[in-house]
Amino acid sequence: MGTLTVNLSGLELSNPVIAASGTYGYGMEYLDFYDVNCIGSFSIKGTTLHPRTGNRQPRIAEYDGGLLNAVGLENPGVEHVVQEIFPRLQKVYRGKVLANVSGFSMEEYCACAQRLDEQDIVGIIELNISCPNVHGGGMAFGMDAACAAELTAAVRRCVKKPLYVKCTPQCPDLVDLCRRVEDAGADGLVLVNTFLGMRLDRHTGKPLLANVTGGVSGSGIFPQALYRVYQVYPHVHIPIIGCGGVSCGSDVIEMLSAGASAVEIGTQNLLDPMCVPKVLRELEDYCREEHIQHITDLIGRAHQ
Ligand SMILES: Cc1cc2nc3c(=O)[nH]c(=O)nc-3n(C[C@H](O)[C@H](O)[C@H](O)COP(=O)(O)O)c2cc1C
Repeated sequence: MGTLTVNLSGLELSNPVIAASGTYGYGMEYLDFYDVNCIGSFSIKGTTLHPRTGNRQPRIAEYDGGLLNAVGLENPGVEHVVQEIFPRLQKVYRGKVLANVSGFSMEEYCACAQRLDEQDIVGIIELNISCPNVHGGGMAFGMDAACAAELTAAVRRCVKKPLYVKCTPQCPDLVDLCRRVEDAGADGLVLVNTFLGMRLDRHTGKPLLANVTGGVSGSGIFPQALYRVYQVYPHVHIPIIGCGGVSCGSDVIEMLSAGASAVEIGTQNLLDPMCVPKVLRELEDYCREEHIQHITDLIGRAHQ
């Protein structure tokens, strides 16, 4: 067992670094930069039952701490992912992926999750109830604890693989929602998705994003994401994947110390495509220098 290995609900990963949904494509996009087999795992682009073209352009804006996006779940639909993309991916990637699932109704979520659950390459179903950029679905399920629990229970009945629920930091009582999602059968949590925000054009005073608002991500949200993990950890018994603004090895260490069992990196992949191998080197150096026998020894130490 290597120093960096982690186990998420029975899924053994070589390290705790996972690329976040929507920022890593289907993994193959990064093959020009490095062998993607070095990564713990990655979450595929949010997948819906039917193909989606997403929101109108412009749908990306920048700020000093990262990005705002309002992509709106553009994806080719679950059948294309299963029949066209996974077979190509399996030729170059030996690991398992997190299948990020979204939808606009309970039935859609269930049908999509069930289809992805049947695939060998899928290790974890990541239920996205936190997309701020679509109307009616996504975050609507993640704002209300009863709704989130009902959806979790419905999807739980349709899938056999570990089910992780990805939450929105916009939710008014995140601790309560996470508890209820755990009671409804979730095997893990992903904390958190993007924060709602906006930017205006300084010349016209009008919104930069066609959608007006977008999801704020990148290093600027790290302290807030870290706090969500710290806040929820003592109240649940299931693993947490920390997500939001992680951009270096030191951020990973902080997330684990706050209570995360693994960490997702999103926007930093877009800013620096070599960030995953860099973070892995930093984690190895840290463990060696600090005489950490196993990286899991760091989990939750902020609470001790
Ligand atoms: C361009 C873009 C697209 C995204 N698409 C998805 C998505 O399809 N599903 C999802 O759950 N999260 C999506 N996210 C959110 C990320 O997975 C991640 O939760 C968020 O960006 C916070 O992490 P970060 O600060 O490391 O980027 C997207 C983020 C960005 C920047």
